[in-house]
Amino acid sequence: MFRLIVVFCAVLVVARAQTTNVNQCINSQGPLPINAYVQGCAEPPCQLPQLQNVVIDVIFRAPRTITNMTTLATATLNFIIEVNIPYDLGENSKTCNFFTNTFCPILNGEVVQYRLQMFIESFFPVGTLATVEFRIVDNDRNREVIWCIRLPIQITPPLPAITNGNEEQNPTPVLVAN
Ligand SMILES: *[C@@H]1O[C@H](CO)[C@@H](O)[C@H](O)[C@H]1NC(C)=O
Repeated sequence: MFRLIVVFCAVLVVARAQTTNVNQCINSQGPLPINAYVQGCAEPPCQLPQLQNVVIDVIFRAPRTITNMTTLATATLNFIIEVNIPYDLGENSKTCNFFTNTFCPILNGEVVQYRLQMFIESFFPVGTLATVEFRIVDNDRNREVIWCIRLPIQITPPLPAITNGNEEQNPTPVLVAN
């Protein structure tokens, strides 16, 4: 009975979740998760502003009991040839610290909600088109991939800074001359 309720809730969560149309990875093995949502982006290429985090909410089912995972990202850029650049996620690579409904170890069959964040550095030039593969790997199984998503992105300029203080910044009204 309890299991039924858990499954039902998981289905509800998935039904309510927004979705981004991500692809299966090419450079890495590994299945797609149940759902992936890049905040603010339904249809790739996702427009990612410099100097802030892109937030990706992922729902996946644990294929077995897993104690320790790492999140990895690799960007593929097309210059004259295709270049794969591993992207250092820093603290954000510690997968277990970013589960929102559970904690490590995760149990076989458990439906896990995970919030992946990646800071977009300014050294990515504005306009850069790239494909990023995000994956989590099992550290106790020689970095076997648990799931992987492939996402076309485009880097955009930083959003205007939010000023200190509490007053809201309203956009300047556009005056139309007659
Ligand atoms: C998890 O694995 C990473 C990489 O192998 C290691 O550096 C880290 O200490 C491990 N964490 C735990 C809690 O075992």
